[in-house]
Amino acid sequence: MRYADLHQKSLNDPNGFWMEQAQAIDWDTPPSKALFDENAPLYEWFADGMVNTCWNALDRHVAGGRGDQLAVIHDSPITGTQEKLTFAQMRDRVARLAGALRAQGVVKGDRVIIYMPMVPEALMAMLACARLGAIHSVVFGGFAANELAVRIDDAQPKCIIASSCGLEPGRVIHYKPLLDGAINIATHKPDFCVIFQREQETAALTEGRDLDWNDFQAGVEPADCVPVEGNHPAYVLYTSGTTGQPKGVIRPTGGHLVALNWSMKNIYNVDPGDVFWAASDVGWVVGHSYICYAPLIAGNTTIVFEGKPVGTPDAGTFWRVISEHKVKSFFTAPTAFRAVKREDPKGELVRDYDLSCLKTVYLAGERADPDTILWAQSQLQVPVIDHWWQTETGWAIAANPMGNEALPVKLGSPAVAMPGYDIRVLDEGGHPVGPDTLGAIAIKLPLPPGTLPGLWNAEARFRKSYLDAFPGYYATGDAGYMDADGYVYIMARTDDVINVAGHRLSTGAMEEVLASHPDVAECAVIGVADALKGQLPMGFVCLNKGTDRTEKEIVSECVRLVRDQIGPVAAFKLAVVVDRLPKTRSGKILRATMASIADGKEFKMPATIDDPAILDEISVALQSLGYPQT
Ligand code: COA
Ligand code: AMP
Repeated sequence: MRYADLHQKSLNDPNGFWMEQAQAIDWDTPPSKALFDENAPLYEWFADGMVNTCWNALDRHVAGGRGDQLAVIHDSPITGTQEKLTFAQMRDRVARLAGALRAQGVVKGDRVIIYMPMVPEALMAMLACARLGAIHSVVFGGFAANELAVRIDDAQPKCIIASSCGLEPGRVIHYKPLLDGAINIATHKPDFCVIFQREQETAALTEGRDLDWNDFQAGVEPADCVPVEGNHPAYVLYTSGTTGQPKGVIRPTGGHLVALNWSMKNIYNVDPGDVFWAASDVGWVVGHSYICYAPLIAGNTTIVFEGKPVGTPDAGTFWRVISEHKVKSFFTAPTAFRAVKREDPKGELVRDYDLSCLKTVYLAGERADPDTILWAQSQLQVPVIDHWWQTETGWAIAANPMGNEALPVKLGSPAVAMPGYDIRVLDEGGHPVGPDTLGAIAIKLPLPPGTLPGLWNAEARFRKSYLDAFPGYYATGDAGYMDADGYVYIMARTDDVINVAGHRLSTGAMEEVLASHPDVAECAVIGVADALKGQLPMGFVCLNKGTDRTEKEIVSECVRLVRDQIGPVAAFKLAVVVDRLPKTRSGKILRATMASIADGKEFKMPATIDDPAILDEISVALQSLGYPQT
C-alpha cells in the first residue's frame, strides 16, 4: 500500500489499522479493540490486553530461535572495552536481576529509578523492571543531585538502581555522592538502592540501604515475565517544561510495543537480525525507544555506545563503530554531526572505514539544518533522513517512511505525518491555517499508540500543558508550517524550552535557580543561537541594591549554581549583570526580543514595551559577551 493510503487508513480506521499492527506482538490476552475513547479527551490504546514488554524484547526471540544472535553490543571508546551479549544471555541476566528485585519486594506498579551511564546493565535494569511490571524512571547522568531529588519525590521509588560512576572524556563522574546527596535532599526515601560497581570506581555502600549489584543476585530464583494490562505504565520519563518541576511523561505498555515495532521496519528499514545504532543516551527518550526497546522488540542488535562523536579518540569514532559492527541504520542528533564536521570538514576519516553496511542515517532531537544534512550525505553517500518527535510521543510524529516508501527528501523538513498522527497548523484562535503559513503545530486527538496518555500524578497539568490551548488537539509546543504536500517544517518552540546539543532544557528552571542567589533581584534566561549546539542558555541578572560583591563574582557564582543545581548538561556558561530587564507595560519580560538581539536578527519593536531604551542597555550587555556573533 502506498504510504499516503496507509496514513489515511490509520486515521479513518484506527481500530482496524492498529489491531493489524498489534498482531506482530505476543499478547498473553489479546486486546478486544485498539482505541479506548470512553474518557475523551483522555485516550488509551489496547487497554484490556495483557502483555509483557520484556517477553517481547527478549524471551520470544530466544523461543523463536534467535537465542544466539547478538542483542546488545557495548562499545566504549572511553574505557577501550567491548562486550557482546546474545538474546539468551540478556534474557538470563535480566531474569536473574528481576528475581533479585522481586526478592527485595519489588512488584508490579512499584517505581524504580535508574541512574546509570551507557553500560548494558542500564538496559538490563530497564528490562528487569518491565519483566516485573515495575515502572522505571531513568535519570540522565548529566543532571545534578537536586534534579535527581525532584524526580525521587515525584516518582516515589521503592528502589534506586545506580552505577558507582559514569565516564566523561578525561573525568570520572562520581554517581554515588550525587545519589547520596539526592536522597538526602528528597523527602521520599527509597527502601533500598542497588549499586553496580564499575571497574573504574568502587563506591562505599551505605549499610542497611545499599545492596551490591552482584551480591544481591547471588542464588536468587530468576523471575518469569508478569503480564500487565495494555494501559499499564511501562515507564515514566521526566522532561523539561516551563517551570523547574519536570513533567513525568507516562509511556503505556501496549501502544509502546505496537508502535515501536511498526517503526523499526517502516521508518528505520531494518529487518530482524540487522544491526541498529542510536548514538544517544538511555537518559533521553531516544535512548529509551531506540537504544533499548524498539531494536530488541524487533529482533535487531542494538549498540550501547559510551563515547562522544569527537575526542573519543577522534572524529572517526562513528565510522569505526558503524563499520566494525556492521550497522545498517544509524540515528544521531545533528549537533553530533556538526561536531564531527568541525573537526574533519573534508571527511578524511570517513575514508578510513568500509561503510558499505550503512544504508540510511536518521537525525532528530533538534532542527536539522540543511548544511549538516548535505555534508553528511556527501560524506556517507546514503540518504540522511530528518525526523521529528518528542519525549511525549516516544516515536516519530513526522518522518520519511524509508522501509515502506522512500518519499522525496525536502531539505529543512522532517517529512510527513506518521500513522495515527493528524498534524494541523493552527492560528492563535485555534483555526487551521493554509499551506506554507506559520502557526502552532497541533495534532488532532487521539494521538496514536505509544504516545503519552497523561503525566505521572498530574492530570490537571497534563490537560493544561497539552489539551487546553486548542480543544480537540494536542499542542506540541512547536511552531512551524506545512506545505501543500503535507511536509512539515519545525521552526521554533512556543514555550520557554530551549534545545542545547539535542538536549531539551527549561529556561524557567534556570531562572528559578538564578533567582535563589541572594544578590539576584530579578533575572531572565534566553536561548541564543550556537553554531555547534544549536542553542546555548544565556542569563541576565539584576542585582539587589547594596551588595558589596563584584559583578564578576556574582556571575561566576550564578554559573556554578546552575551547574550544581541542574547539572553540567545545562551548559550554562554565559551570564551578565544588567540594571533592568525589558518588559511589557504589564510586566512580562520580553525574552523573545532579547533573543532576537542576541542572534542579530531583525525584530519588530513590541507595541506594549514599557521602555524601549532598555533594549540599548541589553545590546551593550550582549556585546560584552561577544553577541551577536559575527
Ligand atoms: N554525565 C555527566 N556529565 C555529562 C554527561 C553525562 N552523561 N553528558 C554530558 N555531560 C557534561 C559534559 O561533560 C559537559 O561538561 P563540561 O561543561 O564540564 O564540559 C557538559 O555536560 C555538556 O555536555 P555536552 O552537551 O555533551 O557537550 P560537550 O561539549 O561535551 O559535547 C557534543 C558536545 C555536540 C559532542 C555533544 O553534546 C553530543 O554528542 N551531542 C549529541 C547529543 C545527543 O545525542 N542527544 C540525544 C538526542 S538524539
Ligand atoms: P525531546 O522531548 O527532548 O525529544 O525534545 C523534543 C523537541 O525537540 C521537539 O518538541 C522539538 O522542539 C525538537 N525537535 C526534535 N526533533 C526535531 C526535528 N527533527 N526538527 C526540529 N525540531 C526537533
